[in-house]
Amino acid sequence: MTREVTPAVRDEPEVSLEASLRPRGLSDDEYINQEKVKANLRILIDAAKARKEPLEHVALFGPPGVGKTSLANVIAHELGVPIRVTSGPAIERQADLAAILTSLAHGEVLFIDEIHRLPRIVEEVLYPAMEEFHLDIVIGKGPGARTLRLPLPRFTLVGATTRQGRLSSPLRDRFGATYRLELFDAPSLVKVVKRSARILGVEVEGEAAREIAQRARGTPRIANRLLKRVRDFAQVRHEGRVTLAVAKEALGALEVDEHGLDDLDRKLLGAIVDKFSGGPVGLDTLGAALTEDAETIEDVYEPYLLREGFLMRTRRGRVATERAYRLLGRTPPTASATLWEEAQSTEA
Ligand SMILES: Nc1ncnc2c1ncn2[C@@H]1O[C@H](COP(=O)(O)OP(=O)(O)OP(=O)(O)O)[C@@H](O)[C@H]1O
Ligand SMILES: [Mg+2]
Repeated sequence: MTREVTPAVRDEPEVSLEASLRPRGLSDDEYINQEKVKANLRILIDAAKARKEPLEHVALFGPPGVGKTSLANVIAHELGVPIRVTSGPAIERQADLAAILTSLAHGEVLFIDEIHRLPRIVEEVLYPAMEEFHLDIVIGKGPGARTLRLPLPRFTLVGATTRQGRLSSPLRDRFGATYRLELFDAPSLVKVVKRSARILGVEVEGEAAREIAQRARGTPRIANRLLKRVRDFAQVRHEGRVTLAVAKEALGALEVDEHGLDDLDRKLLGAIVDKFSGGPVGLDTLGAALTEDAETIEDVYEPYLLREGFLMRTRRGRVATERAYRLLGRTPPTASATLWEEAQSTEA
């Protein structure tokens, strides 16, 4: 099943859509939202430029589709340096990383996406590279082995991952700055929709932009995807102009409800309510019941359900909230009122 509101990139057309919509600079009309991150980064970048030094290494955390890759590109653009893009799973051997590192230009940004998936043995090569800008190459084996030290150009590593907890602590310690990107609120998503509409040359009424934003799960990538679907719909049926009625009709056909929830979200909440009496239920148990990966649930579904108050995290597992019961058309059990209080006080 293709999921309209999955925050992950889905196919090739979407890759090129993203490339055309990707913000270039740090200004408010380019890189929208994330105001605290932008303010901090601005200072970091300006200071590095004033000192004519490469930027410190930067770690970016945040759920899928909230702008990590975009921000890495923005950083390089603002610094006026090239960017090299790779990802954790793509670097299998130490030699792969060594080849990349030795070919970097001075000050270049090396973006490693999904950095938590770097093999440990490769990660070890990264430590001295990040810290002292050199590579240690071991030649030979056994007692005759020698270590060759190779100097590297000074570069800036930008590492991105969906979850901070997955990064090993030696790696985490080597980043000079760490930024957490959050899901967007509706007004920020409206800005994303309007910006993208301008770039795509689509006329979108304010109310329609709000409707799209409302259903985008706090995720700019999903907002862009929904906008594109609505645009196609408007072009075929309504001479291109996106009114509220057109947006509603198009979004209705996509089986995304007014909260941005789809079938899978409802299944997840439904499972907690029906199979586990509202919870608490452990992530792994929940994953098994849904035949979904526990990690996927945690990274992809949960952030939005938590933020919207459909779900809570407690020490003993996930709990469906009163709002979830109401969404599913059920009466919430009064007995779990204390559980919700507990959930509130221990929310991770
Ligand atoms: N701050 C922003 N302002 C405007 N558009 C944005 C912003 N952040 C993201 N977008 C839009 O959302 C799309 C997806 O963002 P991006 O690829 O940077 O997310 P990501 O966090 O790297 O996702 P993943 O975890 O899947 O790699 C971009 O192509 C861009 O159009
Ligand atoms: Mg990315």
